[in-house]
Amino acid sequence: MAVDRWSPESWRSRPVAQVPSYPDAAALADVERQLAGFPPLVFAGEARKLKRALAKVAAGDAFLLQGGDCAESFNEHSADNIRDFFRVFLQMAVVMTFAGSSPVVKVGRIAGQFAKPRSAPTEKQGDIELPSYRGDIVNDIAFTPEGRIPDPRRQLEAYRQSAATLNLLRAFATGGYANLENAHRWMLGFVKDSPQSGRYQELADRITETLGFMRAIGLDPESHQELRQTDIYTSHEALLLGYEQALTRVDSTTGDFYDTSGHMIWIGDRTRQPDHAHVEFARGVKNPIGLKCGPSLKAEGLIPLLDILNPANEAGRMTLICRFGSDKIADHLPALIRAVEREGRKVVWSIDPMHGNTITAGGYKTRPIDRIMSEIRSFFTIHRAEGTYAGGVHLEMTGKNVTECMGGARAISESDLAGSYDTSCDPRLNAEQSIEVAFLVAELLKVERQARGLPEVDAAE
Ligand code: TRP
Ligand code: MN
Repeated sequence: MAVDRWSPESWRSRPVAQVPSYPDAAALADVERQLAGFPPLVFAGEARKLKRALAKVAAGDAFLLQGGDCAESFNEHSADNIRDFFRVFLQMAVVMTFAGSSPVVKVGRIAGQFAKPRSAPTEKQGDIELPSYRGDIVNDIAFTPEGRIPDPRRQLEAYRQSAATLNLLRAFATGGYANLENAHRWMLGFVKDSPQSGRYQELADRITETLGFMRAIGLDPESHQELRQTDIYTSHEALLLGYEQALTRVDSTTGDFYDTSGHMIWIGDRTRQPDHAHVEFARGVKNPIGLKCGPSLKAEGLIPLLDILNPANEAGRMTLICRFGSDKIADHLPALIRAVEREGRKVVWSIDPMHGNTITAGGYKTRPIDRIMSEIRSFFTIHRAEGTYAGGVHLEMTGKNVTECMGGARAISESDLAGSYDTSCDPRLNAEQSIEVAFLVAELLKVERQARGLPEVDAAE
């Protein structure tokens, strides 16, 4: 099937789903030409480093934490917003690293997550029908005829915002903010009086104690950068292929193509047809690739996709992001795992417990935390039964105190949803709910390590 020569534009001769129709082709071509001349956002060497880290996850020696907004927006581009996300992400990572005794590979859904696949091409409000909102990189969320016209200049704004976001993330990750000695300070104001805070403070105390001991014996953050820095990688769905193509460059050290719009890109559940454009584009770039696996993906369909996307069976190249729903995972996941095992494919198994658990309540699109937790638990149970490794979670989350998902320690109810329902797309876990999920994952990881007879720290209580 995909044996033809690949080039950054070879996707253009394939059928393509989920593309906006730009009225002004010349303006689009001009934007793509400009983007192609801009500096890369990430570097090939960083994408390779992430691939090596993911290879460790595939081998069962680390865990993948991937998360961020459903869709980033031009309106929410403040430093506070990025910092609030980053600190919750750090808290989650530290909970999973310390309480779960596992290295954590940190990948944000950030600095590029601007395009949205839609289930319907148009949206109706009352008698008016307009093109659907496809993310800030394409058109405006405002329900007006002008707003919904795809505007190519938005791609330049998405590039600019991605660059600024990445710059801040890099500074946070390496400039002192992520120092483990700050673990106590990552607590957000509004989380301080929450049920999760006691648990987190206790864990932070233990880290402080550990660091004090290490310092006493001569191991301090000043001389050991792994204590004071972390690696944060970026990822997004590679949906708007013209933009992705424009940012695809040849790496001078290897001669390989990399999509420099983000470290990792993924293919959505709606655009993974093996002979279509999105799979064609992804097969030729050397970045780590995610593949969303929903209920419609059968084992017979998965293996050919792995043949196309990872013919050399390179570890760290493929992350299978499962999103079945808490009530469906047991019907679908075992067959996929068995096929992958039978064929000896090296993959990272990750669970997206968000997209299969969306319901409507009180007029809002929401997700009950109970179902999210339940799908995560089932994911671990199924992997245990199959003798394979549950390697990651993929979450839609924010550092803000939103009320978009129901439940959690603070029990957000249907009538609370209206309070702070801010998402421009799908409902996200708020900061407290994210930390709650991190503690659940840490516990599951700990049980897993015990079962495998690996050393662990007793800290998940
Ligand atoms: N460098 C290690 C890591 O990234 C330890 C570390 C430093 C860390 N700062 C962190 C871990 C913040 C989690 C959160 O894993
Ligand atoms: Mn989403």
